[in-house]
Amino acid sequence: MNIKNLISGMTLKEKIGQLNQIAYIPQNIDGIEDRIRSGSIGSIILSQTAFAGNDSPCSIDYEKANRLQRIAVEETSSHIPILFGRDVIHGHKTVFPVPLAMSASFNPELIKESYECIAKEAYNDGIKWTFAPMLDMSRDARWGRIIESAGEDPYLAQKVGEAVIKGFQGDDYSDAGRLCACAKHFVGYGASEGGRDYNRTEISEYTLRNFYLKAFKTAVSAGVGTVMSAFNEISGQPVTSSRYLITDILKNEFGFDGFVVSDWEAVKQLINQGVAETEKDCGEQAFNAGIDMDMVDDIYNKYLPELVEAGKISEKAIDEAVYRILYIKDKAGLFDKPYTVPVSADKSYTAEKAKEMAAESMVLLKNNNNILPLSASCKVYLDGPMQNDARSILGSWTLDGIAEETVTVSQGIKRYVMPVSDVSDADIVILALGESHTVTGEAHSLSMVDMPKEQAELAKKYKEMGKKTVGIMNFGRPIAMEDAEGYFDAILYAWHSGSQTGNAIADIIFGKVNPSGHLPATLPRRTGQIPLYYNFTKGSREVNEYYDHRQDREIYNYDDCEGSPLYPFGYGQSYTKFEYSNPKILENKENKEFVVGITVKNTGAYDGKELVQCYVCDDIASMMRPIRELKGFQKVFLKKGEEKEISFKLGYEELGFYNKDNKFAVEDGTFTVFMGGDSFCQNEVKLIYKK
Ligand code: GLC
Repeated sequence: MNIKNLISGMTLKEKIGQLNQIAYIPQNIDGIEDRIRSGSIGSIILSQTAFAGNDSPCSIDYEKANRLQRIAVEETSSHIPILFGRDVIHGHKTVFPVPLAMSASFNPELIKESYECIAKEAYNDGIKWTFAPMLDMSRDARWGRIIESAGEDPYLAQKVGEAVIKGFQGDDYSDAGRLCACAKHFVGYGASEGGRDYNRTEISEYTLRNFYLKAFKTAVSAGVGTVMSAFNEISGQPVTSSRYLITDILKNEFGFDGFVVSDWEAVKQLINQGVAETEKDCGEQAFNAGIDMDMVDDIYNKYLPELVEAGKISEKAIDEAVYRILYIKDKAGLFDKPYTVPVSADKSYTAEKAKEMAAESMVLLKNNNNILPLSASCKVYLDGPMQNDARSILGSWTLDGIAEETVTVSQGIKRYVMPVSDVSDADIVILALGESHTVTGEAHSLSMVDMPKEQAELAKKYKEMGKKTVGIMNFGRPIAMEDAEGYFDAILYAWHSGSQTGNAIADIIFGKVNPSGHLPATLPRRTGQIPLYYNFTKGSREVNEYYDHRQDREIYNYDDCEGSPLYPFGYGQSYTKFEYSNPKILENKENKEFVVGITVKNTGAYDGKELVQCYVCDDIASMMRPIRELKGFQKVFLKKGEEKEISFKLGYEELGFYNKDNKFAVEDGTFTVFMGGDSFCQNEVKLIYKK
């Protein structure tokens, strides 16, 4: 498609129509059809509410979408197809684990395969654009949207983001069954103060570049088609009106060639943020910042014509924005194939993939005396508020999930054993605990993330009865459970893991699957410790209690609580044991490029997967660097008794950082490299980098 030619033949009104996205309100389909005919719609978001994550969505199908598309293609003067978008975040009809859970798999290949299945189901309903991956870094479990993120580590977020984009877009998202992806929310939204959604964020340039921007830079390199701007301000500047962030950094410095869509009514919300007096001001500020498409508040449609007329916005800039949007429509194949022709999407294969993904995401936190896995002859008593839950365990942002198809915890367990009805007959109590999906996701944050009192009381009751108890944690977010942890003999963090949650839990509990999930976010002891994360910069008085369990010292992080987490970033147990030895430098190319390695051996009684992690600390630098940062991970399958040497490349990208002049560079000096099975690992080697 010769887009420049196409644009040269369009009127200003037609051009501005392409910058406008409307919400699909089924009750107003006639109005929508007329607006399409008028050429004032470039995109339709197949959602009717600002809170698509937890509200009942409008139902859609590809015939409805094709009917609207036919109007755009055949009854408008520009004949430009509409881009249909919808929040396909972690599943469509078949629901996969929430993104935070999938990140716990540390298995990018499996995540990619999952999103390939998700893309086909969504495509077959007429969707061609999704608003995922969400790449906000979050260090605050009070923030309900942490469940949509990849957690607290930028390297993990980079790998997860790449996998999701590849899963949705493939090598060519003009293909049937593929969707255009959207990296969101650019940028810093996860730093919402107090975990309160939509709240202000205070982020220095140093932290912005070395932490919050990293996953977006990678997403651009991975070819993501679109980016969504975030609701938040950064230190007094709303992202939606920040030319520095949207144009200077994202488009010019990162080289992003797709288009930027605002978040829902974020353009109009500049008034709430006190930087715009009128809607027209909002339109001028957002457009000149580089927001190419306006999500559902109709401000571009209403005011851009007069802003161009008044010379506040140049028609050249309008043409550039239209070019970006038409370029992506062309990459999505809309000009050649504007209508959805469903592809085969094998439902049983998708269900199996959802089950595999769920099992790979669950994290075994505790397994005293190896009471797990259970044998099928074991007498189990099942209790807890989540045992029959079919909706919450799908998680937030499941617009099209079918709760009736969910395999509940109880149904999963019953595939192996029939629970006894009298707890006194039971060898083991399985407690299905967790939270409702409605206290997670957008606009749902909590001031306290401690385990609900009544659930802790339930665990305490069985402990006092002398029953061995397995806790199944169906929480979407990380929770604080210091007070309750001792009541459990085993704890499986099962998240909100989607349609196959019950089967995945049962397969792990009864040993068909050896768990291999690891924490993508720290589990604090208490809410009061938040924000608590592994990759912090060291305190002046060396009170770095995240790593130094309580020792006799004069000063502590808190007088009333250990400063260490209950479970650290990267932690996860297996039914088998892995031992590490022989950390060493394998290669050193001119003191600039290194390969380090460590031997890992399966010394336990089961075959299993181990997540070998590589962390780096820049010991002395011109700016304070984190005490350690994840710079590599490999999930390796080892049979009983098997051992392998795992290696990691460390060079410019891994050792460098943005310095106080915003320049990315590696500084001469020593680096300490830690390798092992979680962020507490101590197997180290020293590198000496010399330019
Ligand atoms: C919401 C969310 C965003 C979502 C969009 C469309 O407000 O912030 O993540 O993609 O609007 O539903």
